[in-house]
Amino acid sequence: MIDNKLSYKLLYYLLHHQNQFVSGQQLADYFEVSRTAIWKTITQLQQQGYQIQSVKHKGYCLTIHSNEIISAPLLTYMAQQAHFCHNVFYEDVVDSTQIQAKKYLAEQYEDFAVIANSQTAGYGRFHRPWQSNAGQGLWMTVVKKSTVPFTKLGCFNLVMACGIHKALSKFIDEPKRLQIKWPNDIYYDNYKVCGFLSEVLINENQQMMIIYGMGINILSAPVMDNIYQAGALQQFSHQSISYIAVINELFKKLSQSYHEFSQYDFLEFKEYWTEHSLVWDRWLKYTTSEESFIGKATMLTDEGYLIVVDKQGEKYTLMSADIDF
Ligand code: BTN
Repeated sequence: MIDNKLSYKLLYYLLHHQNQFVSGQQLADYFEVSRTAIWKTITQLQQQGYQIQSVKHKGYCLTIHSNEIISAPLLTYMAQQAHFCHNVFYEDVVDSTQIQAKKYLAEQYEDFAVIANSQTAGYGRFHRPWQSNAGQGLWMTVVKKSTVPFTKLGCFNLVMACGIHKALSKFIDEPKRLQIKWPNDIYYDNYKVCGFLSEVLINENQQMMIIYGMGINILSAPVMDNIYQAGALQQFSHQSISYIAVINELFKKLSQSYHEFSQYDFLEFKEYWTEHSLVWDRWLKYTTSEESFIGKATMLTDEGYLIVVDKQGEKYTLMSADIDF
């Protein structure tokens, strides 16, 4: 267990210079500590299992290929640096990070995230089971006190989709093939790599709390029985993807999206969303709570509604629906 702040700072710094050598002197100058303090902390981290190479006259280099680096203090440090949230709980096994997050919420925590190595009862929209194998993806729920008025919240998922899409695009060979599937998924071609959902709760102090969860298949994807084809980011990249680097990028892009959305409105995101969505120019099967029809999406309104026209020319204004190819 890492127990001093210099360790998190060093790990975070080396993470941003991943696969590069940084000299002990450079680190000492940057953190305004002695070279001995750097050496001692690096040795301590190596003893804890972190893969930090140390080469004379070159310095230190972090190579990460697994979850070994994950720890709640490091995640919390990363989240704070990105202004993403105040603290992160990291659990090995939970039923669902959504359920766990609600427990922490009941204990008066706010502004936090829960990340689990695996979930035994992860769920998606309409309580469909969500497979979350150990170490294979990011299973995370974020809780924030809403700084967004209730009337704007209808667009929240669309905004988060933009943030997730921006972050994940960085890790694959052909980012153009990564697209947003309205309303709550990210696909690579016909493979679902990410699903997310959000809930709004009013806490004891009458504050509106947003609870949003996401499942991202990073290293491998589960086999889904006829529901849809699942894919993992690693399948679409020739480089080995670092789990912690994905989390770090997500923290940054989700934080940016959330803060922009609090300040401005959905119009700031509409162009990005429209450009990266897969719904255009194709006939898709739309299923709402009332009906099911084949339609073509024609536009997204400024309020985040999808306008769809069916084969008879009838127009539908949708806030949420299931889409099948
Ligand atoms: C969907 O595709 O329907 C949304 C899937 C959301 C899954 C995530 S995994 C982390 C969080 N905990 C859960 O139980 N569900 C969400």
